[in-house]
Amino acid sequence: MKNKQEQTTPDPKKHNSQLAEIESHSVRDTSDIHKSAIKRVIVTGVTGQDGSHMVDYLLKHTDCMIYGTIRRLSVENHINIEHAKSEPRFKLVNLDLTDDYSIRDTITEIKPHYFLNFAAQSFVDGSWDYPIQTWETDATAVLHILESIRKHAPYCRFYNAGSSEEFGDVIKDPQDEEHPLRPQSPYGAAKAAARHLTRVYRESYDLYAVQGWLFNHEGTRRGKEFVTRKISHGIAKIKLAMEKNQDFEPLQLGNLDAKRDWTDAEDFMSGVWEMMNQSSAKNYVLASGKMHSVRQFVIHTLKCANIEFIKKGKNETEQFSTKDGICIVKVNSEFYRPAEVHKLRGDCSLAEKELGWIRKYDFKKLVKRMYENDYELLKNK
Ligand code: GDD
Repeated sequence: MKNKQEQTTPDPKKHNSQLAEIESHSVRDTSDIHKSAIKRVIVTGVTGQDGSHMVDYLLKHTDCMIYGTIRRLSVENHINIEHAKSEPRFKLVNLDLTDDYSIRDTITEIKPHYFLNFAAQSFVDGSWDYPIQTWETDATAVLHILESIRKHAPYCRFYNAGSSEEFGDVIKDPQDEEHPLRPQSPYGAAKAAARHLTRVYRESYDLYAVQGWLFNHEGTRRGKEFVTRKISHGIAKIKLAMEKNQDFEPLQLGNLDAKRDWTDAEDFMSGVWEMMNQSSAKNYVLASGKMHSVRQFVIHTLKCANIEFIKKGKNETEQFSTKDGICIVKVNSEFYRPAEVHKLRGDCSLAEKELGWIRKYDFKKLVKRMYENDYELLKNK
């Protein structure tokens, strides 16, 4: 018995006329192939924040057939794509990026017009704990994808999710497309390697292959290990405990002085899609151009929660307490990183000018949205 997903989703083989069209063209003639009516897009990492937002964006703004790839796990985590699973233009396919055969089979079967790679080991702090897995997922897998595209689908446009962590120990503020790569973590180094591979394949084989520099992007689908969601979720939990007169554990954070350029993840999707649909492949920085510290994120979230606080101490003794002296947020040096990227701020003027890219959310709207979402989620649990 087929499940609902399989029954309602168009079969890729139904696009035979387009496959014939692709096969009859010079394989590198991407502009002609990209004129065909319905495009097939592979999106990896669809259970995560970016992949799921990309699926929503493509469903809303294009008529593409979307193949969202997932890794077989014993416990499914489809919360970010549950709403999209009944869409006829969205199909889930199994793909493990650490398995070269799996990548090749998926590409030869689907013959995608676009391959958008959002799957990654994306937690910077975790990359010191599992550097090899980070390298294999974030660098080696990109090489496998590029090789498969080169050999089996060179008309396919490739996007790899790049990161401001590649700039790392920055020497200029803000950072634009010309800033040197000075990564500070195994994660940043793997993304920088992927960037070089993407460029080498673009230049050697004339592929449409790009890697945008995405500065920090957050939202209601963000994992709770990242600092913004850790704060919005942690403070919402404390607020609910306060409302019920219950005891609570303080939220424990690492370096409050770190500064990041935070954008709402949803705002990035149009920028990525524009990057994929230019007359020639080019990398762009996507960012807000505004920088805030982790401390400012905490303070603004406390304000959204209407929690009055007193701030005292410095460095490892810094803490936020209620007027009655109950600790709400404190520093725990266990969350410090072996090497820190102290500040990142992107210059997105090229993307604004050439892609016409604009954003809907600013820092305050982002913090409010994240806090209110977590408060409601926890309240209705
Ligand atoms: N995660 C975390 N947890 N970070 C903390 C904490 C804490 O308790 N306390 C302070 N921080 C600081 C980190 O030291 C870092 O300077 C900053 O908060 C942001 O950390 P994360 O939210 O984990 O994100 P990131 O900047 O390391 O990486 C994110 O952005 C990159 C783009 O610049 C990730 O999304 C990456 O995948 C992405 O490439």
